[in-house]
Amino acid sequence: MDRIRIRGGNRLSGAIPISGAKNATLPLMIASLLTDETLVLQNVPRLADVVLLQHILANHGVDITLAGKRPGDPEGNGQTLRLSARRIVDTTAPYHLVSKMRASFWVIGPLVARMGEARVSMPGGCAIGTRPVDFHLDALRALGATIDIEEGYVLASANGGLRGGRIRFDKVSVGATHTALMSAALARGESEIENAAREPEIVDVADCLKKMGAIIEGAGTSTIRVQGVERLNAANHTVLPDRIETGTYAMAVAMTGGDVMLQGARADLLQSALDVLQEAGAEVFETNEGIRISRNGTKLAPVRVTTEPFPGFPTDLQAQLMALMSRADGTSQITETIFENRFMHVQELARLGARISLDGEVAKIEGVERLKGAPVMATDLRASVSLVIAGLAAEGETMVHRVYHLDRGFERLEEKLSRCGAEIERVAG
Ligand code: UD1
Repeated sequence: MDRIRIRGGNRLSGAIPISGAKNATLPLMIASLLTDETLVLQNVPRLADVVLLQHILANHGVDITLAGKRPGDPEGNGQTLRLSARRIVDTTAPYHLVSKMRASFWVIGPLVARMGEARVSMPGGCAIGTRPVDFHLDALRALGATIDIEEGYVLASANGGLRGGRIRFDKVSVGATHTALMSAALARGESEIENAAREPEIVDVADCLKKMGAIIEGAGTSTIRVQGVERLNAANHTVLPDRIETGTYAMAVAMTGGDVMLQGARADLLQSALDVLQEAGAEVFETNEGIRISRNGTKLAPVRVTTEPFPGFPTDLQAQLMALMSRADGTSQITETIFENRFMHVQELARLGARISLDGEVAKIEGVERLKGAPVMATDLRASVSLVIAGLAAEGETMVHRVYHLDRGFERLEEKLSRCGAEIERVAG
């Protein structure tokens, strides 16, 4: 299994191109199931999760082609995918595919909306908390589907199709909002989604659905209204930039010191995280090219942060912030309210010398003068990259094991960082 070797201590300077957002790409690809015409997605990141979802969609009958490089295309440009679900031949998403990535469960909405039935394995994915799917199922029931659970599979059926309804989530859920939105787009009549997630990726998917002919109002607010249509059609959509990748590199620069332009990044997608970085002592500049981030000489100030649904501080940057705060001049506090058990990185950061204590959902991080390189193990996607950030600032060598988690969510991470002066390489085998 590949590992990543880092020799810490270098400042970062230069430019990092930000890829298309993984968390928008996955539901956008799934949205291709809603139409028998071709959906073209541009700026698709090269990630293991994208490849996996291609296999899952192909199993339902979706033809997927990848556009080749064109003259003048910049190195590492996003990919263009053409997805065509002209005929759905199989409405089962089997365990051996769904268990590898949680978001693949989301095929359930479009399948039942278009075909009147779906049989989808209960999901697996990152080992963070219990992560149930009850909200997804409640949303489908509210749109008239019947749900049964048999041998680890959810069977959803709606003879005669879904019909519009009122969906109210008790808790904000990104995935369940995607399910509700995509299903309601093809349901008969009007639907209202209350306490909807407001994440930018929801807005991106809604924008794409609108291009496909859906009638949606209020995406990006807590109440989304959808007027169902009989069919959706072809569209061409460019995936928005990845705010989690942006925030991750911003924290890496704050950690090592230096000056980096995050090309193509958009500040409005992660204002809460940029505010926290500024409070910690980094400088943030919004420019036409992207977000420039720098820290020169100043000590890192401790912060108090609570993870929240958008526009609050994202849980997907919690581990990275914790790595950063392990070097702050004082004690920081991070409260994780989205996922229980999302503190698996704590013991690995401790191996590098971080001083972190946990009390339920609250972590206290006592900043230390220096971290020291050590072998560490990646446990999930965001935790693994927090170890990379810590390693970039640690003295000596850090070897991050089990990096397949990184490949699920970060495109060409070693290359992007080493171009800015980091000593980081992938060790095969
Ligand atoms: C998405 C993101 C993930 C991010 C998370 C929260 C993608 C591909 N993944 O995951 O990176 O960390 O949002 O911003 O976009 N819940 C239930 N029942 C449900 C669904 C969720 O109780 O049916 C709970 C979860 O356990 C969690 C909370 O709701 O406590 C939020 O989870 P949710 O927003 O659904 O996360 P995902 O959509 O899976």
